[in-house]
Formats: sequence, structure tokens, C-alpha cells
Amino acid sequence: MKTGISFSYSNALDRVVGENGLSPADINTSAAADAVREFLGRVTSGEVGFPHLPEDSGTARAIMEFAAGMRPSTDDVIVVGIGGSALGAYALDVAMRGPHPIQERKTRGPKKQPRLIVMDNVDPGVIETQLSQLDPKRTAVCVVAKSGSTAESLAGFMFVEEWMRKKLGKNARKRIIAVTDAHKGDLLAIAKQEQYPLFFVPENVGGRFSVLTPVGLVPAALMGIDIRKLLRGAATANDVCWSEKLSVNLALASAVVHHALDTKRRKSIEVVFAYSSYLWGMAFWYRQLWAESLGKTKNRAGQVVETGQTPIAALGVTDQHSQAQLYIEGPRDKMFTFWTVEKFRAEGKIPRTFQQFDSTGYLGGKKLSDLFHYEQIATEAALAKVGRPSCRWTLPQVDEFNIGAFIQMMEFQTGFAGELYGIDAFDQPGVELAKKLTYGLMGRKGYEEYAKGLKR
Ligand code: PA5
Repeated sequence: MKTGISFSYSNALDRVVGENGLSPADINTSAAADAVREFLGRVTSGEVGFPHLPEDSGTARAIMEFAAGMRPSTDDVIVVGIGGSALGAYALDVAMRGPHPIQERKTRGPKKQPRLIVMDNVDPGVIETQLSQLDPKRTAVCVVAKSGSTAESLAGFMFVEEWMRKKLGKNARKRIIAVTDAHKGDLLAIAKQEQYPLFFVPENVGGRFSVLTPVGLVPAALMGIDIRKLLRGAATANDVCWSEKLSVNLALASAVVHHALDTKRRKSIEVVFAYSSYLWGMAFWYRQLWAESLGKTKNRAGQVVETGQTPIAALGVTDQHSQAQLYIEGPRDKMFTFWTVEKFRAEGKIPRTFQQFDSTGYLGGKKLSDLFHYEQIATEAALAKVGRPSCRWTLPQVDEFNIGAFIQMMEFQTGFAGELYGIDAFDQPGVELAKKLTYGLMGRKGYEEYAKGLKR
């Protein structure tokens, strides 16, 4: 089975947008082919693992069996995690059921779909408010931390665990699932001590690339999302993402266009304009993927390069009325990536009321989906008209299969971009530094040195 996802970059070319666009010479096909080969080398050596995830049917089966047992007694799923350990579950939830607070989901029956609550921040008021509205007997808690030690996640978890234990006693442990590294970390030790159900993150899959590991799949399966279809979709991305041809390998084409616009046309900001509320969570997930992977001080040769495009998430049509003015007339430091959908969940026929008024008469009887679509085309055209380059990803529809494929393509795109920039897209030394400084400030043993300068 193939995905019908498409990628177009004609509005990023100079023949459409003039000097801010790319010329055919800027699309370096031989550098693109090298990027594929170099990235393949990293995957073959085992350094990078995400491309293999769609093949791991054993893990998916174990997760589905576990989730099927737990779902009937579960109304709410709390994910306690941060960054790559939370954004994937959030993106999947929004994609499949729409944004909060009112979502499409079955609240009872054998196909029941529990609600997701993401605790990825440690604002105490929010955590207390959320817990006060949940029933621990009907809640499943997924604590997710690959390192097993992230301060925010463990502090949040300690809150939630105590809340559960106070109400359920020893039975609390049956409703807490840990997702972490298989060999190291305190979360692993805690989970073993408390006998929580455990799922593992493969060592060679970093946080922001881990949505198709138990990090995203366990919460997704608990929420009633068909994780087999996600993985099937991701597998179809693998079928095209090793090609060296830009016409076949859309992730590669997109990486080349992004890299060229940044390095040759100084488009250091990428605005991702998601033209579907169902893709809003994905935009936040992608923002981390692109920012944390490409934002690097040094290249692989150790030279200072300070690379990385700044990704901004924008929602169509909402942000046309909050940001488009800046995008159309402000600094020419941006490129735009439209994420569009061919088939909406509903067409939304506009009632034929108030027909005597100019502002309503022309709308009556038309479809909201058409309004949405034309707004996107109009924004894209307005940007092109004033010489602002854009490209466009189109999904046939937002479902598990296409989202799985899109996730995998975005991850491949990021891997290829890392090779084009010549940096390591799979580490995050900047995040690690801030983590260590926090440990120091909070008095963690072994991190005293990090706190000294700051306290002073
Ligand atoms: O992509 C990454 O590696 C990070 O964003 C991590 O996911 C984030 O820092 C959380 O780390 P952990 O899962 O160890 O708590």
C-alpha cells in the first residue's frame, strides 16, 4: 500500500517568487544523494534507529495486548513526560480526535477511547487542578523518561504517584506504566522496585524521534488509537525515503529545499502553517524535531557553525488574522511550509440564513471545507505574490495510516537535513546543559559545580 502524501515546492522557486526563491542550480542533487548515503550509513551501523521502528511488530503486539486489558477500566490516560517523551502522544491525540477540550471519541462501549492528559510542565497549580478532577481508579499513568532522570518528569510523577497511592494503596502500581531505557536510569530502578508494567525505548532512538516506540505507542494504544495502522503508514514512508531521487523521496526534496532556503536565501525561520486543527499537535511535535535536531553550535568536524532554522507553528486559518500581516510584509527572513489535507472529516454545509446581507448571502449553501481550502490557497498565493517562498505537504486525510507515514517522513527529512548541514541531528547538548544546571540549582548530588556560578 502506498501513501498519497505529496510535497510541492514550486512556490519556493525563483521563477515564482523572484530573487528570494531558489534557482535550479540551488537544488544540489549530488549533495542530496550524498546525504542519503551518509544517513544510510548511520542507520546501517546502528547509530540511528528510528527507520527500523515500523518493522517492530512484536513490540506493537505486546503494547496492543496490554492496552486492550487496561482500556475497559480507564477513562483518562495521564502522560507524565516532557519534550520528546510527551509531544508525540499529544500530536497523535490531536490528529485522531481533534484539539481539546471537546474531542471526537467514544466514551463507552468496547471501542472506548480514554482521554489524554499531558503533564509536560511543572506548573503546580495546573497539576493540582488536573488531579483534583480525575478518578485514580479510572486513570492510567504513563511515566515516560528515556534518561530516567529528567527533573520535571520525575517531580510530576512523584506528585501523581502519591495521589494514586493515597487513594488506591498497593493497587496504584497496577495503573502506572513506565517507559524508559532498558538498561539504565532511576526510573527503571523505581519501576522494577514497584513492579510497574514496563516498556522500553530503543537505545538508538532519541526522544524526539521516539513517537513510534512505546513512548508514543503505549499512550496511543491506551487511548484506542490503532497503532498497527500508524506503523503500516510509517513503513510506506520507508519504501520511498531511501531513494536518491528528489521526485521519489519527498523527505529528501523537502530537506534540500529547507536547507537551500536557509543557507542560500537566509530564510532562517520556518513557519509551519498547519491548515487543519487536527494537525496542530503535529506542528508542535515537528517544532521540537526541527529545532532540537538542527540547532547546533558545531558541525561534525568540530567547527563553530551555529546552524538551525527557527520553526514557528501557525494554525490556518486562525493565524491569518494574527500573524499573516507580519509574514506578508515583515522581514524577509522566513520560509513557509503549508500542511494541508485533501479530505476533511466533514464538509460543513453553511446554512442559507441571512441571505439578504452581503456578508452572509454569498456564504449560504457553500461548504466550510471549501472556505478553509480557499483561505489556504489565498494565503499561499499572497505570499508568492510578494516574493515569499513556500512549500506544501498535502495529506490525503488525517488518519492513522497517513499520520504514521508523515511522522516517518518528517523524521527522515530531519535526518537528511542534518547531513546537509554537516551536523549531528541526533544529540542535544544544549538541552543537557540546562538539565544539569537545573539539577545543580535543585541540589542534586554530583551537580554542585553547575550551581556555583549561577548562585553567585
Ligand atoms: O529529544 C530529546 O531527546 C529530548 O527532547 C528529550 O525527549 C527530553 O529532554 C526528555 O528526556 P527524557 O525522556 O530523558 O525525560
